[in-house]
Amino acid sequence: MRVLITGGAGFIGSHVADELSAQGHDCVLLDALLPEAHGSVPSLGHELVVGDVTSPDVLRPLLSTVDVVCHQAAMVGHGVDPFDAPSYARHNDLGTAVLLAEMYRAGVSRLVLASSMVVYGEGRYRCLSHGVVRAERAAADLERGLYEPRCFCGDFLVPELVPEDAPLDPRSTYAATKLAQEHLASAWARQTGGSVWALRYHNVYGPRMPRDTPYAGVASIFRSALQNGVAPRVMEDGRQRRDFVHVTDVARANFLALSSPRPGFEAVNVCSGSPHTIGELAFALAEACDGPTPSIVGGARPGDVRHVVASPAKALDVLGFEAKVGFSDGVREFAFASQREPVTTP
Ligand SMILES: NC(=O)c1ccc[n+]([C@@H]2O[C@H](COP(=O)([O-])OP(=O)(O)OC[C@H]3O[C@@H](n4cnc5c(N)ncnc54)[C@H](O)[C@@H]3O)[C@@H](O)[C@H]2O)c1
Ligand SMILES: [Zn+2]
Repeated sequence: MRVLITGGAGFIGSHVADELSAQGHDCVLLDALLPEAHGSVPSLGHELVVGDVTSPDVLRPLLSTVDVVCHQAAMVGHGVDPFDAPSYARHNDLGTAVLLAEMYRAGVSRLVLASSMVVYGEGRYRCLSHGVVRAERAAADLERGLYEPRCFCGDFLVPELVPEDAPLDPRSTYAATKLAQEHLASAWARQTGGSVWALRYHNVYGPRMPRDTPYAGVASIFRSALQNGVAPRVMEDGRQRRDFVHVTDVARANFLALSSPRPGFEAVNVCSGSPHTIGELAFALAEACDGPTPSIVGGARPGDVRHVVASPAKALDVLGFEAKVGFSDGVREFAFASQREPVTTP
């Protein structure tokens, strides 16, 4: 098959391209090389078209040559600055809307969409008296260092694995635009009879992660600090849990989805199934690098969530996907892996 990978020069898109090539498939990458993400034009060894996914003129000649689209292009990060909202909406939602319309025009009916765990908001929690409840942490609790979410009855909640049918509850501009991508793609699948896999990645890490940018993920921020001989700063008490999934596993999940057409819209968690705390990640990386001991600095940012850990059951069931790279091996390798060039313009 021939695949258009939007955002193909990015961290995950470039690994999807490597995986497809290794499996004997052909791909063409489209990337706007956003200055927030790229310091220089990366050399990736794949056909790259520099252009914007919001442009029908850029998309049309590419879509006429492909069987399926892998849509990774997005503006990533936390989305805490209200002035960033128009850019998030343009790159993520206008981009997806234009892509879907042009796919329909070109007769391309299969899409794999990079979605995110952020669509779930604050994970899934159970109160021993009230069952599964929506969690929202109170500012007053955070200020007092009470980081665990509480039920409306005041009791602390117990986190559980999030299944795909959990309520969707985005808590940041970025998260809202990722969920809107899913809604647009789901409507398109219904209108056109097309096939959409929305892969909800959890915390992806691995070689070629961007470094030294405010938009980089936590693994990259810790790794960059250690490389500069600085102790990683761990927010809250470091006990917040995430699912760290290696980028080569995420690339394989994309390959499996690209190879499994199925009419309609399906959302699937792409995770390792083995949650770890942010503190564990910082200490494991510091040990692997023989660097300074991480410092636990407290605090919590608006929109930060406490525990988001997912169920990997559906991905195994519908895609045959199971993560292969374990936390210890992946972190040890990441401690010395190459990272993407820092951006030159802030
Ligand atoms: N990294 C993670 O942990 C993670 C987790 C969940 C979801 N995701 C999703 O995975 C996808 C890839 O993320 P990544 O970590 O590789 O980020 P990245 O920034 O490395 O890659 C995104 C790429 O998209 C490009 N891009 C952005 N807007 C574009 C546009 N309008 N036209 C063309 N190209 C554009 C950027 O230049 C960049 O190369 C994104 O959709 C992101 O939301 C990532
Ligand atoms: Zn309760």
